[in-house]
Amino acid sequence: MSQRLKIAIQKSGRLTEKSLELLERCGLEFTRSKDELFCFGQNMPVDLLLVRDDDIPEFLREGICDLGLVGDNVAEENRLKAQAKGQPYPLERVRGLGYGRCRLSIAVKRDFDYQSIEQLAGRHIATSYPYLLQDFLDRNGVRAGIAYLSGSVEIAPRLGTAEAICDLVSSGATLAANNLKEAEVIYRSEAALYQRALEDQPEKQALLQRLLVRLDAVLKVAESKYVMLHAPKAQLDAICRILPAAEAPTILPLGGKEDTVAVHTLCRETVLWEHLEQLQAAGASAILVLPVEKMLG
Ligand code: PRP
Ligand code: ZN
Repeated sequence: MSQRLKIAIQKSGRLTEKSLELLERCGLEFTRSKDELFCFGQNMPVDLLLVRDDDIPEFLREGICDLGLVGDNVAEENRLKAQAKGQPYPLERVRGLGYGRCRLSIAVKRDFDYQSIEQLAGRHIATSYPYLLQDFLDRNGVRAGIAYLSGSVEIAPRLGTAEAICDLVSSGATLAANNLKEAEVIYRSEAALYQRALEDQPEKQALLQRLLVRLDAVLKVAESKYVMLHAPKAQLDAICRILPAAEAPTILPLGGKEDTVAVHTLCRETVLWEHLEQLQAAGASAILVLPVEKMLG
């Protein structure tokens, strides 16, 4: 019997669209079931299960699925929970995926004069991440009460059930809207690919390897940018040194300009606004950063 690889992704939330997009860019095509919770792989024996993100680590541990695209925060919370209960945690982080970046932070009311974590001793902190929070408090030798809430954690201080919260922060909009401010970052997270142990299933293992080759190519292209700019000849070396992980540049003459050239190059690492500012300060002008659709070789 040929085996099908099952990948769990978040059913609706911040990771859903990006996860589907990533798998499609790896060349996988799916047909969605009527209830939209199962996607059948059309061109490879790889199916998707759409589930609550918090359930993904458990599904992997129970072997209901083989791979999961999930936030490191969710996986780490599950690992600490398994550790506290003395249970095995046979999950492995295979790749960081570069999206869904956020931080798990302790936040307090805006008017709280926050200086250090000791101020939270003996207080109550509301969170959906009790194990990550407890771990942080233990490491800092602080004893505080943890009030578990499965959602809407940010309203706890207003209701008076907790003096602080520990929740995910991405843009910070939720904190601002609830009159809260970030006090401590306790964990940084991104979406990642996790797998359960597959040693005893060589067919699935081989499928995963095939998928990883594609995934690595897709992730590499995602960072790569094609950069075009004008550079004074005298500044050419200095400017090329600023470009992150650049290939040998193409240098082209510019019509009617003796002392300036056009530079085209592929940068294999993320080009940040800081890089553009440095380029401009070094004399570059007409700087364009273009996305790369596909790349071979
Ligand atoms: C998180 C968190 C906040 C919000 C923060 O929830 O619980 O409500 O995002 O984001 P912001 O800083 O951009 O406002 P999420 O949407 O991840 O849902 P979940 O925790 O239930 O999966
Ligand atoms: Zn969730």
